[in-house]
Amino acid sequence: MTLNLTSPATLRQMDSLQELCAAMEKHNMTPGWIEREQPMMWAEPKSAFIPSHWSYATAKAAMQAAGRLIGTDKAERRNFVMRNPIPDNDTATLRTLICAYQSILPGEKARSHRHAPHALRVILESHGSYSVVDGEKHPMETGDIVLTPGWCWHGHGHEGNEQAYWFDGLDIPLTNLLEPMFTRSTHKPGNRSSMRPQTRLCDSPGPILGPPSHRPRRTAMGTSARP
Ligand SMILES: [Fe+2]
Repeated sequence: MTLNLTSPATLRQMDSLQELCAAMEKHNMTPGWIEREQPMMWAEPKSAFIPSHWSYATAKAAMQAAGRLIGTDKAERRNFVMRNPIPDNDTATLRTLICAYQSILPGEKARSHRHAPHALRVILESHGSYSVVDGEKHPMETGDIVLTPGWCWHGHGHEGNEQAYWFDGLDIPLTNLLEPMFTRSTHKPGNRSSMRPQTRLCDSPGPILGPPSHRPRRTAMGTSARP
């Protein structure tokens, strides 16, 4: 398609501001001095997101039902995402975060994967569940906090007797905004990790799998984020 772009010589000689701006639009350049329906800046902070309440009791009941209806073989993570009830929003909880309630049943394993976004987990009810982060096993007991730095392999398991529940927060929208999104799962053919036995990632502490810059530092509560 020919855009009929105006040459620099012609632009230089234009004597109508309106025609000049119209010509520049075809070059995908827009004057910065005009008033816009959506301004580039505004006088005070504002947010499209609204305060909302996601009931743990409701989510817990739903996760108990989901525990009967779907296993971790089909739901890599059995969770319910807290969608902020604003128009045209599918998953974001806040501008920079997607939060969820997650659950695992006794004896289950949620297979390992890794992704650029960082994860924060607040353990709500659990005795015997755990997360394996880059080969290191971290207990997930009620009240614990477990951090999964970006790009660390992580899977979950449960050696206790009662269904376990926790809160997840991931900076997925922020990662998407900045555009360095990568994700890998152990079950997809062709991934280097798919050739590793899953038990190595989920069942027991194993070797550090990530590059040195992504290795977690141990803390009293689990894995700390990189500084
Ligand atoms: Fe994850």
